[in-house]
Amino acid sequence: MSKKPMRLRRSQLAVPGVSEKMLTKAAASAADHVFCDLEDAVAPSAKAGARDTIADALNNLDWGNTVRCVRVNDVGTEWCYEDIISVVEKAGKNLDTIMLPKPMNASDVQFADKLLNQLEMKLGLERKIGLEVLIEEVEAMQNVVEIANSCERLECMIFGMGDYAASQGLVVKNIGRTDGYPGDIFHYPRYHMTIAARAAGIDAVDGPFADFKNDEAYRVECQRALTLGMVGKWAIHPAQIDPALEIFSPSQNDVDFAREIIEVYEKAASEGLGSVGHKGVMVDAASARLFQNTVNRADLIGM
Ligand code: COA
Ligand code: MG
Repeated sequence: MSKKPMRLRRSQLAVPGVSEKMLTKAAASAADHVFCDLEDAVAPSAKAGARDTIADALNNLDWGNTVRCVRVNDVGTEWCYEDIISVVEKAGKNLDTIMLPKPMNASDVQFADKLLNQLEMKLGLERKIGLEVLIEEVEAMQNVVEIANSCERLECMIFGMGDYAASQGLVVKNIGRTDGYPGDIFHYPRYHMTIAARAAGIDAVDGPFADFKNDEAYRVECQRALTLGMVGKWAIHPAQIDPALEIFSPSQNDVDFAREIIEVYEKAASEGLGSVGHKGVMVDAASARLFQNTVNRADLIGM
C-alpha cells in the first residue's frame, strides 16, 4: 500500500460556497478541515457564481494549516465536471482535496480521478489533489469495498447519514439523530463503511448532525464514531467544532498510558516473553498494536 498524505480530519466544517462571510469565518476557525460547498448548500441558480466565490476564498484568505476542500456536485448532475474544472483551474494550487458526493460505484470516483489527472498535467500542479467521497446511497453502501479501493487518490470516506436515511427510507427525526430506535440506527452502515475504509488504508469520517444547538447529543454521536474507528465528524455550525476536536483527540493521560503499554510490551519481548501482567491486566502483541493507534493519532496531532 503506498503512502497517502496524512491529514487531520477530527472536525470537517461545512461552509456554503455562496457566503463570503462564512468562508472567512471558516478559514479562521479551529476546524482541521473545511469543505466549501457547491452541492446541497448552494441553490441551482447560484452554483456557477459560487465556483468563483470559493476560488477567491481559497486564493485570498489565510487558511493556516487547515485542510482546504471543495465539495462538488455529483456525477449524475450537469454541474460536476465544470465544478471540478473551474475550481481546480482557478485555485488548484490552494486546494488540498475534492469531495465527491453520491458516488454509486468505483467508476463514479474514477471519473473525478481521471479529470483531476488531466487538470494536474495541464496546469503543472506539483501537489496531487486528494479525493474524499460521501457514502450516502444504499447502492454505494453495497459497493463500499470497490469504492474504497477505486483509486490511489482516495483518502477518505464519509458516512452521509442525511441522504443515506432518505435513500434507504429510514424514518428519522432530523439529519444525524439516532434516537427513537432500539440501539443505534446508524450502527451497521457506520461499522460497515469503517471496515472498508480501514482495509483500504483510508480515513472514515462521520457526517452531519443538524440539531446544532444540541451539544450533548452531538457529543454522543462523536463518541460512537470514534469508538468504531472513525477519525472525525462533520460540523455544520461553528459550535460543533470544539466538541469534535476534543472527542477525536486522545487525552494526555490516554497517550501516556498507550506509550507505557507499548514500553511494557517491548521490554517483555526483549526478555523473551510474549505476554506479561501490568497493573492487573495482560499485555501482549495485540495490546501493543491496539495502543499504537492512540500513539499514531497523538503523533498526527503533534501531542
Ligand atoms: N461556517 C462558518 N460560519 C458559520 C457557519 C458555518 N458552517 N454556520 C454559521 N456560521 C456563522 C454565522 O455566519 C454567524 O456569524 P456572525 O456571528 O458573524 O453573524 C455565526 O456563525 C453564528 O451563526 P448562527 O446565527 O448561530 O447560525 P445561522 O442561523 O446564521 O446559520 C445554518 C445556521 C445551519 C444555516 C448555518 O450554520 C449553515 O449554513 N451551516 C452549513 C450548512 C451546510 O453547509 N450544509 C450542507 C452540508 S450538510
Ligand atoms: Mg448528501
